[in-house]
Amino acid sequence: MDLPRPELALVPRPRRLSPRPGRFRIDRTTRLRVAPGAEAAAGLLRTYLAPVTGLRLEHADDAAFVLALDPLLTGLGEEGYGLTVGLHGVLLRAARPTGLLRGVQTVRQLLPYQAPVRPDGDGVDLPGVEITDVPAYPWRGMLLDVARHFQPVSYLRRFVDLMALHKLNVLHLHLTDDQGWRMPVAAYPRLTEIGGRRERSMAGPAGSGRFDSRPHGGTYTRAELTGLVAFAAARGVTVVPEVGVPGHVRAALAAHPELGNHPERRLDVWTHWGVCPNVLGVGDHVLDFFRTVLDEVMDVFPSPYLHIGGDECPTDEWEESPAAIARASREGLEGPRALHGWFMGRIADHVVRAGRRPVAWAENGTALPPECTVMSWRTPEHAWAAARRGHDVIHADHRSTYFDYARAPGPEEPLAQPGHVLDLRTAYGVELTAPPAEPALAERVLGAQGQLWTEFVTTPEHIEYLTYPRLCALAERVWDADGDWPDFRARLTGHEARLDALGVPHDTLPQRPATPTHAPV
Ligand code: ACM
Repeated sequence: MDLPRPELALVPRPRRLSPRPGRFRIDRTTRLRVAPGAEAAAGLLRTYLAPVTGLRLEHADDAAFVLALDPLLTGLGEEGYGLTVGLHGVLLRAARPTGLLRGVQTVRQLLPYQAPVRPDGDGVDLPGVEITDVPAYPWRGMLLDVARHFQPVSYLRRFVDLMALHKLNVLHLHLTDDQGWRMPVAAYPRLTEIGGRRERSMAGPAGSGRFDSRPHGGTYTRAELTGLVAFAAARGVTVVPEVGVPGHVRAALAAHPELGNHPERRLDVWTHWGVCPNVLGVGDHVLDFFRTVLDEVMDVFPSPYLHIGGDECPTDEWEESPAAIARASREGLEGPRALHGWFMGRIADHVVRAGRRPVAWAENGTALPPECTVMSWRTPEHAWAAARRGHDVIHADHRSTYFDYARAPGPEEPLAQPGHVLDLRTAYGVELTAPPAEPALAERVLGAQGQLWTEFVTTPEHIEYLTYPRLCALAERVWDADGDWPDFRARLTGHEARLDALGVPHDTLPQRPATPTHAPV
């Protein structure tokens, strides 16, 4: 196979691309014609070009580099764009502003990735090309777990920007869990004061009994999160927050014992991994508490979707609690186990009344109200079962999208989630296509996302080593559902040079910590 011209090694692969003769030089004389509605895209383009070229790219009505919005363009949807680069000009067009933002990322990838920073230099060349591009799926996401190990907002910005480079459009921010609560809530400051730090962490897999002895933690301010939302929006990325109920809440229970099934009990922020037996109680005060929490979450995050958790909720505490048994009976449920679906229903209802759409982790969706979008994490079969029940679904099958599994077998890989190896080919193989006998299910598929759970992951370098290049594989499949593995492999070689230039440790983890290091408290 011919290796593609390195500068055309685009990831994800555009739907239609033909090389054109010639190159367009961006230099001190270059101006942008920014048509009405294209201002945000022009701002983003300048953000990327200024450090590489030292150029300001001011507006001029007669400029040869044009960014144009044309609502009459058909077939491009919300995110599609057309890009023509020739000797005498560049034309980036889209029907919607987000399409222009996607096109800017393509221009960014077309820039020479080893370009030195030359404020007074000759400029840079874009290769001649004709592209028409449109994504296959509207939900192209990446989960980052900042609950197990905190990362500062400065790093989240870089994470978002690298996602945007690959045309991903959803950052699923996992803000709360047994091991940490990162979301500030004005009405309940103890959530972050108590729930935002823990005494130690496991240094081995769940159940290993091996711990370190380092306290660590961190919480965001409201202003930081609002700033992150704006930074992401400027790149066409939506931040979907997750505040999970009724399980994975031990940090909240440490801060507010009255939310639990044993209000008299004092729990710490969990120092173990795995499925925690402690879950929320089912009194009205618990529902009211989380309605208040979610109101603040919705205030900070304008995303149309809100993730409300729902996974791994053992029902033992409810089965032994007279209050929970009485609640189940009052609600006409079969028994306390059915309180899970009931609880999710109450919380989902609150989200729907606020005009948002609830997303929940689930298997076939039996316990969820129909308005919940199902994030299917166990097997692709569960996604299809949920779609048959009428749910919208997002593929998050752990075997192809959990990037906390090791990238390769072997002792040289850093400590990872045991039980599976998720190599690049497996990430590229994420199942998206509806079973042939049931093509109608395809309409229910919003897309797919990668997950980076951070039980063993404490540093940005480690996050990126696990994320790249597997994210590149996922990003290509959700953009171009059919994929082409040999072609992807060939382009990835060029793309990895781009990742190198951006300082992404996609190949080796440079400073592998002998023991995990944690963000200081
Ligand atoms: C999950 O992995 N518990 C969603």
